[in-house]
Amino acid sequence: MDKFHIKGGRPLEGRVQISGAKNSALPCMAAALLTPETVILHNIPYVRDIITQRRLLEDIGATVLMPELRTHKITASHIELFEAPYELVKTMRASVLALGPLLARFGKARVSLPGGCAIGTRPIDLHLAGFQHLGATVRLESGDVVARAPRGGRLRGAEIKFDKVTVTGTENLMMAATLAKGTTVLRGAACEPEIADLAELLNSMGARVRGAGTPTITIEGVEALGGAEHTIIPDRIETGTFIVAAAITRGDLEIKGCHPEHSGALIAKLREVGVEIVEVNQSTVHVSCCPNGLRSRDVVTEPYPNFPTDMQAQYMALMTQAEGRSVISETIFENRFMHASEMQRMGARIQIEGHNAIVEGISPLTGARVQASDLRASASLVLAGLAAQGETIIDRVYHIDRGYEKIEDKLKQVGARIERLRDSVTASLQMPRGVEGMAAEVA
Ligand code: EPZ
Repeated sequence: MDKFHIKGGRPLEGRVQISGAKNSALPCMAAALLTPETVILHNIPYVRDIITQRRLLEDIGATVLMPELRTHKITASHIELFEAPYELVKTMRASVLALGPLLARFGKARVSLPGGCAIGTRPIDLHLAGFQHLGATVRLESGDVVARAPRGGRLRGAEIKFDKVTVTGTENLMMAATLAKGTTVLRGAACEPEIADLAELLNSMGARVRGAGTPTITIEGVEALGGAEHTIIPDRIETGTFIVAAAITRGDLEIKGCHPEHSGALIAKLREVGVEIVEVNQSTVHVSCCPNGLRSRDVVTEPYPNFPTDMQAQYMALMTQAEGRSVISETIFENRFMHASEMQRMGARIQIEGHNAIVEGISPLTGARVQASDLRASASLVLAGLAAQGETIIDRVYHIDRGYEKIEDKLKQVGARIERLRDSVTASLQMPRGVEGMAAEVA
């Protein structure tokens, strides 16, 4: 397994380009299953989860061409398999996003029930209850979810009220409802920008989705959907990660190709703690840190438009460098503090009490060997390593490769001393490591 070797203590300075949003590209790729015509997606990020999603679509029978690295042309005209196998689902939970499109278009779907992951049990009961509201029968069979549309093969529009905000649940049901007979109303829907991005693609395919980005989404079912061309929005979590990278290294970064308005709550909080963030225009922010040092501030993670759980670990790294005590409350996932113990190995003073992490700053960080546990935890350890004095080795960086495109190259371009240490085993097996593996697979 590849590792990162980081020599910390140097401010990051220069310009970094943000990639497309993984969490929008994944549902948009699944949406291509809703039509036999070709869906062209641009600005697809060059990360491992996209490889997995591409393999899933190809296993199902779709063809995926990549005329260039960040463009996918997906044609699901001859689908032979209506299932997402365990091998793929266990490596990427977002494979469940195949459920809604397959059920809507073919009246049947079989998807391995995703197990939990490092950050929590992550059930999909709200997805399945929603499909039942749309008239489907849903049963569990040897670890797989088997869903069938009612006789006649077509789902029926319904009113669905989510007991809890679920991002992929909203996406799965929005996609399923596009081909249902009649109108569906989703109440308590997630409002993340990725939902609105998916709705924009669906509507360009001929769907009739209204209200995406608000808690109430109305979908008027249509008989069939066609092809479309769409550009994925920039990744707001990568944007936030680089803003924190500039702040924690006392650097000065120009972050390009982003959508600052998708990071409103994060930017507001970082300004509160003393980070200078200037929105240069709709696609660039200029970040410089904090002539008067960093101030500690509490934060609570909540569904969009509030502070995102996917930025909690990165914010915790920053708070170790802020004067005073801060309380970080994680309300979305039950086990999303695993980065804390690794940061403690670097000298951070963090106390975990249930859903709260109490951070005492300023704790000078020193380099150490640490281990990544999940995608955003690994990003926070990179940030801590960049801020620390001395050398840090981060193990299991395949976690970070899932959701950050060439992060070590982007960081090096702005002055970071970071190297990827290839694991000889991986190299010898020629397995698609990180993003290089994708280059080898590009058609
Ligand atoms: C999406 O996961 C993102 N993944 C996650 O990003 C993100 O952390 C999460 O939304 C919250 O914003 C993708 O979009 C691919 P949820 P998702 O359904 O949809 C509970 C990253 O780092 N719940 O919104 O799986 C669930 O357990 C990843 O990029 C149910 O109880 O999250 C959690 O406590 C990590 N039943 C809460 O709701 C359900 O049926 C929010 O989960 C579904 C969810």
